[in-house]
Amino acid sequence: MPHTSRPRPHRRRRVLRPLPLAVAGALIATVAVTLPQLTPDASAATTLRGFADARGVRVGAAVGDTPLTSDSSYTTVLDREFNSVTAENAMKWDALEPSRGSYNWAAADRLVNHAASHDQGVRGHTLVWYSQLPSWLKNGNFSASQLNTILKNHIDTTVGRYKGRIYAWDVINETFDEDGSMRSSLWQDKLGTGYIANALRWAHAADPAAKLYINDYNIEADNAKSDALYALAKQLLAQGVPLHGIGFQSHFVVGQVPSSMKANLKRFSDLGLEVSVTELDIRIPLPASTAELAQQSTDYKTASENCLGVPRCAGVTVWGLTDKYSWVPGTFSGYGAALPYNESYAAKPAYTGLSNGLNPNA
Ligand code: XIL
Repeated sequence: MPHTSRPRPHRRRRVLRPLPLAVAGALIATVAVTLPQLTPDASAATTLRGFADARGVRVGAAVGDTPLTSDSSYTTVLDREFNSVTAENAMKWDALEPSRGSYNWAAADRLVNHAASHDQGVRGHTLVWYSQLPSWLKNGNFSASQLNTILKNHIDTTVGRYKGRIYAWDVINETFDEDGSMRSSLWQDKLGTGYIANALRWAHAADPAAKLYINDYNIEADNAKSDALYALAKQLLAQGVPLHGIGFQSHFVVGQVPSSMKANLKRFSDLGLEVSVTELDIRIPLPASTAELAQQSTDYKTASENCLGVPRCAGVTVWGLTDKYSWVPGTFSGYGAALPYNESYAAKPAYTGLSNGLNPNA
């Protein structure tokens, strides 16, 4: 599939309308001959990516370099089920430029090359963030003008390297506080809010075909944080800044998919922006009960439908695919079991929920 466009819908799922009896009778022989061709390709029709392709959307997974290079069960599931990948860490600044001027592209290149050979698109994650910065940058005491140059150079270099191979970039990540004010960060504190428009413009110049996103968490509901983002997005668009999409991370707790999620995504889509669920996982207090796993399945379906039911939803990405490597237990003490596959690669009820969310006929 071309890297810069949405996957083409399959033509396999034809709708068979009832025929008048006489016509049906006359056609019986023909129908008998054509029926086998109407049988969908079983693997494509029943995988997550089969359903996503049929709708012309992405279903993605965040991918860690360790499992990518060492666990063949992992890559088997990844390549069978997903038509998009996001680097879980490999494209963050600390990974790409651990010491000033010396880049390490190995893991990011591996993922981009893997994706190309498995017909997967790549979401780039992430260019401007307060976290996972190399210490030379965090502790460098740079002036505003130096920082501006460093940031532009980072964007030119990184976006330029993968030009044409990344269909969307999370240019800006987690830039708001919960109350809707701008989060204090290296960028905000030294450069002011103008860094956002600059970063988007630089990224657009480096790869005009990539869709450029602002990505954040706790913006799935209609709340102070999403209101502030909405105001910013509107303002950037009015100024002609190349902002193309909003990424809703969607790190949820089981049973807590916000009821305003769909309406909230729709108001961004109504601005003409793409919307994507970019980091979906749904954590459960451990040990997970059968009832919680069933609720999680419902939640996966609801969350994916909340995006796919809105015009301009580009797709849904889960933050990992198996509980074996999820960031959740290490970050949210006492929680886990957040992903569609368990640690032994058995599909959980959550897999069915996500699959049904993607399948328009479920
Ligand atoms: C997380 C990764 O999953 C972890 O491996 C890493 O230690 C920390 O970052 N929001 C984001 C992601 O935008 O980049 C974060 O990923 C999860 C929260």
